[in-house]
Amino acid sequence: MYPEKGSDIIQPLFPWIGGKQALYRMIIDRFPSDYRERKYVEVFGGGASVLLNKDRSVREAINDRNSNLVNLYRMVRERPLELQDRLRYVLNSREDFDTIKRRLAQGHNKDPVKWAADFFQLIKQSYGGGGTSFGGSPRSMRAAFPIIDAVAERLQYVVIENMDFERFIKNQDGPGTLFYLDPPYVLTEDYYGKLFGPPDHFRLADLLMEAQGLWLLSYNYCDTVVALYSVPGIYIEKVERINNLAQRYDPGAVYEEVFISNYDTSIVLPDQISLTGYAPVERNFIWK
Ligand SMILES: C[S@@+](CC[C@H](N)C(=O)[O-])C[C@H]1O[C@@H](n2cnc3c(N)ncnc32)[C@H](O)[C@@H]1O
Repeated sequence: MYPEKGSDIIQPLFPWIGGKQALYRMIIDRFPSDYRERKYVEVFGGGASVLLNKDRSVREAINDRNSNLVNLYRMVRERPLELQDRLRYVLNSREDFDTIKRRLAQGHNKDPVKWAADFFQLIKQSYGGGGTSFGGSPRSMRAAFPIIDAVAERLQYVVIENMDFERFIKNQDGPGTLFYLDPPYVLTEDYYGKLFGPPDHFRLADLLMEAQGLWLLSYNYCDTVVALYSVPGIYIEKVERINNLAQRYDPGAVYEEVFISNYDTSIVLPDQISLTGYAPVERNFIWK
């Protein structure tokens, strides 16, 4: 049903961060049909898989509180060749991994290219991309160079910010804005050691209820999230996707997730019109 990866689709630098790679098509299909004419704002950037796979919008901005990640995106965009030079000869060794992990923990930011290379190496060589333990599997840095080039090109006109979501949303909000938000999920809030707890989930809901722009939010399906957003004018759709990590010990395991929006995502997009007329779009809304 969805197009396979093709030359127009940019692979994220870290396809596994946030695990959204499998979901990006579903998310983009739920954007309002005029999303290219809106300012597109991605609040919790992470691996940026949605931004990198969607068509360009007139204005675009991406944010993440993780300064390691944001510095990396900035270096990919501004100094991709220097970054590749730094990565060209790194060793895939536990000793090297532990050294860069220590350097990053000490917060080195005097040389932004070196900082970006360290973080890229750490994520690439760690188990599951978690940045904590050495993965021990072969990873080619050079294989990532074409991706770095493609991402550099795609980010040229994208504003990249490094702030808490509240300030970013307030800065970017307006009637012509489309926000896509993929916050840390409830009960899986520990991202690189920074907690995203209940007050943050409530703070986010309060902000979104006041927003002037359109917004689409993806979350894990749980009572807290459903209760928080079961509000008039809001749509909650339940979806399932394969849990790839669990397949080895639990075949068929799925993640239950929700898409929450302040507009009706079942309104068909022009590219979903079939020869026989409008293709009906079924959405499993559990609240609207
Ligand atoms: C679920 S991930 C996003 C995944 C991303 N959509 C993707 O496709 O890879 C959540 C991101 O939110 C960021 N984050 C956590 N707390 C934040 C905050 N208070 N403000 C902004 N970003 C935050 C984390 O650093 C993490 O990268």
